[in-house]
Amino acid sequence: MNILVTGGAGFIGANFVYFQLKNHPEDRIVCLDKLTYAGNLETLNEAMKHQNFRFVKGDIADRECVFNLFKEENFDIVVNFAAESHVDRSVENPEIFLLTNILGTQTLMDACRFYSIKRYHQVSTDEVYGDLPLDRPDLFFTEDTPIHTSSPYSASKASADLLVLAYARTFKLPVSITRCSNNYGPYHFPEKLIPLMISRALANESLPVYGKGENIRDWLYVEDHCSAIDLVMRKGREGEIYNVGGHNERTNLQVVKTILEILGKPETLINYVTDRPGHDMRYAIDPTKIHSELGWLPETTFDEGIKRTVEWYLNNKQWWQNILNGDYKEYYNKMYSNR
Ligand code: NAD
Ligand code: DAU
Repeated sequence: MNILVTGGAGFIGANFVYFQLKNHPEDRIVCLDKLTYAGNLETLNEAMKHQNFRFVKGDIADRECVFNLFKEENFDIVVNFAAESHVDRSVENPEIFLLTNILGTQTLMDACRFYSIKRYHQVSTDEVYGDLPLDRPDLFFTEDTPIHTSSPYSASKASADLLVLAYARTFKLPVSITRCSNNYGPYHFPEKLIPLMISRALANESLPVYGKGENIRDWLYVEDHCSAIDLVMRKGREGEIYNVGGHNERTNLQVVKTILEILGKPETLINYVTDRPGHDMRYAIDPTKIHSELGWLPETTFDEGIKRTVEWYLNNKQWWQNILNGDYKEYYNKMYSNR
């Protein structure tokens, strides 16, 4: 199999590249990534040593680049991770989210049609379902939950999903979609909650918790997300959506306090700041379909995964410190100075 992984220099995409190289060494992996602020070629250093791995710098919305690559490579499967992925950035500047997340998806699917690719897999998110109320713990997102987005990010991901389903119906493109809950683990960019809190706590800096910290996310260790995508793109039914999540719900405050406890740092570091506009209250996935159809189950509990993650950040300081020393400082000051 020749597999195109877009966005493979980012958090989940890179973990997926390593998952493939480990579990399917016979397959060839080509990574197409624009190397935005969130892409980091250093993350792929080990992958570069594999014969079956190729990295190409390019934009999924650049038609010429995409079509040339498809012509050269003759892909069997295309997995699209490439996206602008941070909700807060989408509140600041929605446009790039529309360009990459919607038009980029369309460009890739046009190439898939032209070159008769066997499977186009779209990596989507539970955020397309909007949010659930805190006082209804009995409610979960199923694949039939209506789309009801809150942020420019989630609206762009939902638009892309609708386009994927339209290409399936109109052009008979063989597609699949996974909608996953919040991931955490190695190579997570330190603008997102968990790596942000770990890196700041290690430096004894204040931890900006939005609002009261009562919002709930359903955390999944990144390797479990990778195994779910791998199953769906190889064995999932064409034209289907599969929710991915492992019933690991935590309030943001619980997550932050757990990190402080593991690091032996005081809770006085917590700083409650102005809430995110349009902040989704609760995400919670019902993963019954992927479990019953494909036998998928997560392997890592939150307690185990968060310890492993903190350990990874302790052992790989250079990786995240390189990021914190760059343009990121400017970003942090801009986003958090008036909160
Ligand atoms: P990320 O921001 O860490 O990485 C995104 C990657 O895409 C980067 O390497 C970036 O350089 C690349 N990229 C951005 N624009 C591009 C373009 N136009 N052309 C080519 N490459 C481009 O994101 P992530 O957290 O790894 O998320 C990956 C995917 O998974 C996204 O589609 C996201 O919506 C989805 N998702 C993420 C989560 C999560 O918790 N992080 C959960 C569910 C779904
Ligand atoms: O649910 C899947 C989604 O999870 C993915 O589609 C997104 O790409 C991914 O970024 C993530 O979105 P969230 O908005 O849930 O993740 P984030 O890490 O930005 O925030 C998690 C929670 O923590 C959220 O309730 C906001 C809160 N938060 C976040 C930051 C960055 C804080 O309280 N303080 C912060 O500084």
